[in-house]
Amino acid sequence: MPGIDRVTLTMITDNYVDMLLPDLPNVTRTGLAHHFDPKTECVQGENGIALHVDVRWGRYRYQALFDTGMSHQVLLHNMKVLGLEADEIDHIVLSHGHPDHYGGLEGLLRHRQAPTPVSAHPDAFAPRYLRLASGQVAPYFNYGLTKEAIRDSGGLLVEHTEPLEIGPGLIASGPIPRVEEFEKAPTDLSAPNALLHIRDGKIEPDIVPDDQALVIQVGDDGIVILAGCSHAGIINTIRYAKQITGRDRVVGVFGGFHLGFPGTPRSKTDKTIEALRELNVEVIAPSHCTGMESIMAIGEAFPDQFMLNVTGSKVTLQAGTQPVVDLDVEARQKIGLQ
Ligand SMILES: [Fe+2]
Ligand SMILES: [Fe+2]
Repeated sequence: MPGIDRVTLTMITDNYVDMLLPDLPNVTRTGLAHHFDPKTECVQGENGIALHVDVRWGRYRYQALFDTGMSHQVLLHNMKVLGLEADEIDHIVLSHGHPDHYGGLEGLLRHRQAPTPVSAHPDAFAPRYLRLASGQVAPYFNYGLTKEAIRDSGGLLVEHTEPLEIGPGLIASGPIPRVEEFEKAPTDLSAPNALLHIRDGKIEPDIVPDDQALVIQVGDDGIVILAGCSHAGIINTIRYAKQITGRDRVVGVFGGFHLGFPGTPRSKTDKTIEALRELNVEVIAPSHCTGMESIMAIGEAFPDQFMLNVTGSKVTLQAGTQPVVDLDVEARQKIGLQ
């Protein structure tokens, strides 16, 4: 299948804000000038992720939204600051049913005039609980995501359990096979920080089976992969994206790599780095739940591929064989990597 000519990814919501990052040939930031202009407002960070995807091919354009952050207040505020129109979004993809990914959905749908397709795995709606480090269970925490609320606010729910083409060059991956041993989720219901959910009336360890990525086919041979929280494992995600597209060249990987969750051993980050090296990823932009320590470790391991991606950053990736983004040297210096 032919890919699109160009994709621009805008980080509407992420955990971090940094007004001092420099622009690069393929990257623009909401930076210093913006920050000091009293006529403008600045982007806000929160724990969550929302990535705007703007694809162009020939004279055509298509816009998708991958996840919606934790709140519609931040999502809509940042969209306004970044000049993005809610009504121009053609399709929304939810990576999984956790509040830092669906939290802004209902408010965004209500803000729009037109009905909007929303794709998600059916398990995103299963009631979820978390065992705290103290051993107690935190209350049902994903009650804010219901099919009724999506429908009543103007969403057209598209439930799928297989890869789904949601637009030109864009594939919502559906469930990702859990192959890598080091990325397997713990399944002990009584362990601290254990995730639990209820399916068919039974309490089960929650491996987040609904977790999916958005895969963008760029040019003749490339793919760009967007991960929400990588509950399936970022390496499993990349391998599966290659498998479903039949494409080998990984132009970029953006989003949460899930290496910052409490109790995650450093060895998982080291194994991830090893596998990323084998996969020859051209631009590596970990954020959100990757955690600062792992973001720094990845930056150090990949000085030529790493990009520090924060709220308000906008990167454009083109079809072609040239390197797609310049080195983020100044950004790396800022977090002490050089
Ligand atoms: Fe997350
Ligand atoms: Fe999550």
